[in-house]
Amino acid sequence: MRLDDRLAERFPLARIDPHPSSRLELLPASAFRKLVPLIVAAEKEGVLVHKLNIGSPDIKAPEEMLSLLNEFQMNPIGYTLSEGEPSFLDAFRIYIHRLGFTFIKNSDLLATAGASEGIKMAVFAVCEPGDELLTFEPFYQDYDTSSRLAGVNLITIPTSIKNSFHLPDRKEIESKITPRTKAIIFSNPNNPTGAVYTKDEIKLLVDIARHHHLFLISDEVYREFCYDGREHHSLLNYFEAYPERMILLDSMSKRYSLCGIRVGIIASMNQELMGGFSRMAQARLCVGVVDQLIAARLSSVPQSYFDGVIAEYKARRDLIYHGLKTIPGIEIHLPEGAFYTMVTLPVENAHRFARWLLTHFRYKGETVALAPAEQLYLVSQEGKRQVRIAYVLNQDRLARAVEVLRRALQEYPS
Ligand SMILES: Cc1ncc(COP(=O)(O)O)c(C=O)c1O
Repeated sequence: MRLDDRLAERFPLARIDPHPSSRLELLPASAFRKLVPLIVAAEKEGVLVHKLNIGSPDIKAPEEMLSLLNEFQMNPIGYTLSEGEPSFLDAFRIYIHRLGFTFIKNSDLLATAGASEGIKMAVFAVCEPGDELLTFEPFYQDYDTSSRLAGVNLITIPTSIKNSFHLPDRKEIESKITPRTKAIIFSNPNNPTGAVYTKDEIKLLVDIARHHHLFLISDEVYREFCYDGREHHSLLNYFEAYPERMILLDSMSKRYSLCGIRVGIIASMNQELMGGFSRMAQARLCVGVVDQLIAARLSSVPQSYFDGVIAEYKARRDLIYHGLKTIPGIEIHLPEGAFYTMVTLPVENAHRFARWLLTHFRYKGETVALAPAEQLYLVSQEGKRQVRIAYVLNQDRLARAVEVLRRALQEYPS
């Protein structure tokens, strides 16, 4: 009897009724995107929805980069190197050198389809199925999703709005480390909390990683967005001292308002890891060539562009913080960086409230889309009453969104 006939006899259902893998069942929907159908439905009704749910900036991308599109002549558009378009890798290396990390070489860098692909590469490269990856909650949701895809257990350590989501002490972090722990992943500045970790906090993580033989994966896609004179302390500061265990994730999405070009970077001085990233990269051939050519122009973006963007985000941060603070029952903290804040609402279930805003509540024909935070926690119950707000709308729209939220909380049937 042929093998497939024998299999069909043993597993008759598998033949007639194939089941998707259990991996699919474990994948959560995105906390930021799952209410999108309700947003679309409200907009169809003619409602103006202030979208604070997704971190896609409304600020214009630098002309210096987009001008590529007017000059573009390549035909046909072929593949480029799996490791990245050389002109993009050169430009990114120059950017990193300007930050002071002149030891980084092109061979320490690999282009990814956004930091999203970098997260998956890092998780697959450092963890076996069944291993543990540590992070702090609330977390960037893809750390959870990518871990589930890789069969890795994400272990989370709660942080709290009470101390603006800064890191817990060494003892608490170390209490979560087991023989299966392979790495700590974190975003700094942080999505969703807006925390910017201090030099001491990063040093603590480096020391814990050294002591327990872990990899450290630092996601720095919001590196420039630090407010009130805070300096960003990059993991790159430790690359030379601990080349074997440091991994950096970066992206063009937020820094240049280019979420749609899907270009990021994974960097490490561990050449064995880089070899693994290359083989993964070869399996997806290459990152979009046009996208990388746009990104390659990053070195022509003047500092004045960032000065303007950072000033704008800071003004928005202030507006959101001071506006929400005046709403009775809301608990809020002053975010230090990125363009997000976590807010505890005076409701029992923030997810239900966010749905109600989109399906039932209108104030002068407007409503607000929020991202319920429950899925950004695995341990703490805090997220049930929290939402993440992305301040990616202009100040006029943000002020209106705050007003809509105030009215909504007054009317919400508790
Ligand atoms: C912390 C963090 N890391 C990674 C990403 C993924 O970004 P992209 O894939 O667009 O580079 C995001 C996007 O919101 C993010 O906030």
